[in-house]
Amino acid sequence: MRRAKITIVGAGNVGASCAFWAATKELGDIVLLDIPECADKTAGKALDLAQCGPIDRFDCSITGTSDYQAAKDSDVVVITAGIPRKPGMSRDDLIQTNVKIVKSVTEQIVKVAPNSVLIIVSNPLDAMVYTAWKTSDFPTNRVVGQAGCLDIARYRTFIAMELGCSVEDISALLMGGHGDDMVPLPSYTSVSGIPVTQLIPEARLAEIIQRAKMGGGELVKLMGTSAYYAPAAGSIQMVEAIVKDKKRILPCAGYCDKEYGVGGYFVGVPCILGAGGVEKVIEVDLSDEERKQFDASVEHVKELAGLAESVLK
Ligand code: NAI
Ligand code: 2OP
Repeated sequence: MRRAKITIVGAGNVGASCAFWAATKELGDIVLLDIPECADKTAGKALDLAQCGPIDRFDCSITGTSDYQAAKDSDVVVITAGIPRKPGMSRDDLIQTNVKIVKSVTEQIVKVAPNSVLIIVSNPLDAMVYTAWKTSDFPTNRVVGQAGCLDIARYRTFIAMELGCSVEDISALLMGGHGDDMVPLPSYTSVSGIPVTQLIPEARLAEIIQRAKMGGGELVKLMGTSAYYAPAAGSIQMVEAIVKDKKRILPCAGYCDKEYGVGGYFVGVPCILGAGGVEKVIEVDLSDEERKQFDASVEHVKELAGLAESVLK
């Protein structure tokens, strides 16, 4: 059986962590790509990771390079190339630089891996997914963004910390863009089937939701750069769903036209992820208040996509 081929573009903190998880989960052969100036460093990271194989017992080829030919016929391409934010910056401050990077990466990937599913991670996420879609001209099901898997993991972590229970037992849903206006949904949050609202008082739950929404900023303040372990774990959760055709329902930045009345943008919604990429966007009922928050977040996504569009011209 042919192994899946997974290319990760951007071999920095998030990209290298993605490669680590993809390897240890033995999801396929891995190509780590970065700019020519970082070719040696990228080759070194790949070799270092390959040498974990005998210890962690995984068999896969791991290549570190700046040559796009190595990505030929990849099944999945994860784009993490771009600058991360520094303390005091918002994700939106990255747009001018990262649109150009994501555009150039996508142009090169399209030539060598025209049938791949693209998972975009670079920020500002929703605008970068839009950029990759516009540049690639891929069908919408084969372009998707990672944000929700991370944001929901933060939310689930904080709930488990509050309750002193296993994170495994927290099931939740989060929608909207990957900004401070993302929308965690208590009405779709349960702990082993028990509605979270029966376990955590409303005011305290509101504080937890606020912390989850600002979770990226909390880490930038602590680390001086943006998070990478959980973002990479979220990205690889998506890769796994695709290469194993698992049909997982995960919160992803998927293309919504008629769905939720969004009108042709990528926003965080529950998606079925399988071999075809986003195989379905699931529409859930929202209360009036939830709908208001979702619509506000979508407006922000549209503004960012407009900015990306102006840089692309
Ligand atoms: P980093 O600075 O550690 O790595 C970025 C890498 O991209 C560098 O190795 C750089 O050389 C490479 N790069 C730049 N231009 C490139 C090009 N044209 N082609 C190939 N590679 C190129 O940054 P980090 O922390 O890995 O973050 C990467 C991106 O992911 C940032 O935009 C960050 O904001 C975003 N991010 C998104 C998250 C999400 O949930 N969607 C979470 C965390 C970070
Ligand atoms: C995060 O949420 C910065 O998007 C990145 O950690």
